[in-house]
Amino acid sequence: MLKKSSLVLWGVVLFVAWNALILFFLWTRPQSLSDHSHLTEEVIRLAEDAETELERQKDLLQQIYRYSVLWSRRQTKPLPAAAASAQPSTAAPLPHLSQISPDAVLPVLVIACDRSTVRRCLDKLLHYRPSKERFPIIVSQDCGHDETARVIASYGDAVMHIKQPNLSDIPVPTDHRKFQGYYKIARHYHWALSQVFQTFQYQAAIVVEDDLEVAPDFFEYFQAAFPLLLADPTLWCVSAWNDNGKEQMVDAAHPELLYRTDFFPGLGWLLLSDLWNELEPKWPKAFWDDWMRQPEQRRGRSCIRPEVSRTMTFGRKGVSHGQFFDQHLKFIKLNDRFVPFAQMDLSYLKRNEYDRSFRDQVYSAPELRVEELQGNQRRELGTVRVQYTTRDSFKAFAKALGVMDDLKSGVPRAGYRGIVSFLYRGRRVYLAPPSDWTGYDPSWS
Ligand SMILES: *[C@@H]1O[C@H](CO)[C@@H](O)[C@H](O)[C@H]1NC(C)=O
Repeated sequence: MLKKSSLVLWGVVLFVAWNALILFFLWTRPQSLSDHSHLTEEVIRLAEDAETELERQKDLLQQIYRYSVLWSRRQTKPLPAAAASAQPSTAAPLPHLSQISPDAVLPVLVIACDRSTVRRCLDKLLHYRPSKERFPIIVSQDCGHDETARVIASYGDAVMHIKQPNLSDIPVPTDHRKFQGYYKIARHYHWALSQVFQTFQYQAAIVVEDDLEVAPDFFEYFQAAFPLLLADPTLWCVSAWNDNGKEQMVDAAHPELLYRTDFFPGLGWLLLSDLWNELEPKWPKAFWDDWMRQPEQRRGRSCIRPEVSRTMTFGRKGVSHGQFFDQHLKFIKLNDRFVPFAQMDLSYLKRNEYDRSFRDQVYSAPELRVEELQGNQRRELGTVRVQYTTRDSFKAFAKALGVMDDLKSGVPRAGYRGIVSFLYRGRRVYLAPPSDWTGYDPSWS
């Protein structure tokens, strides 16, 4: 502790000395001002010089700060909460009700790398943000890309710009060479989330990536769902994303609809510091999102997700996108109607109440065969249910109805207790297992 404060003190001394030097330098430069235009030029040049100096000093201070943080990290033992929950097994009890206040600050962590289009993401966030105190924006940049750094810096004080310091290549097994990008993403997430929760000590955060554009009620949604996350330990995230949120598959007239899902959607998601303390000690080297979807991490917990997505991705360039973007991501509809979620009662999403009412809704719907549905028969039935019993029937029906057919650790995208809810030819369909379903089979992939 003594070492740390003396380090910071030295930093400050260095900073002051540097300033004094600059002042001295500026004062003592030759004064050969013959007329007014020269004077103006000189003043502008001085101002520009001063600006460059300030920029340099800001970097210096950030470096000092970073090192003092690194230093203190090395000095202190892991947080008690992290130590206690290290390597929890699936059987371990879930955390108790959170101690976090429903009014806690909710920073938005923007994960950026080498896409200068991060501008689109930041512009929308700043445009829709209702309060800069409640929702500070932290841009974490990896990859050391100059152009992207300049774009982020151009926002000045409106966003906080932090830079992942370790740009080295990561040693990976030979057959994983092509996945180097995924290793770097996992390292960046680890660093950035540690900054947010351990260094800055925030109690919750909304994570977005640099290729996401947010909806007008993005902040309203998270603000309203946050107390649910605090109150229900069977929830571990709130996500802005519906994996089956293509235009013709969602009920755009009801953007207020929300669901629980067992599939971790990511793509604009809110988590608590408690969860970070639990995951950080075992954070994976790569493929962090699929890792989170494994039973050892998820531990039966669910996320809240909307009917109509509150984020959309506009980036094609990227480690994981490309084909997936062209076939799916780019068709996801971004909600454009503001829903005053904060004035609505969302308690129906708590586990006990939701499980009862959602199950009733699904299993009271009449069953229809996929072919009948495709033929647009029996419209008079309204909401219907299509039943699957095996991995192969799930995949076949999903494909036939345009639903995402991939499973991660046995969980279908946007699924809850095996049930996927979507719109098909204008009617509500539940693709559901038999009502005596008892759990996911992680071997279904
Ligand atoms: C940088 O990252 C690599 C790979 O993750 C790691 O081996 C190395 O120790 C890191 N360096 C520092 C200074 O943290």
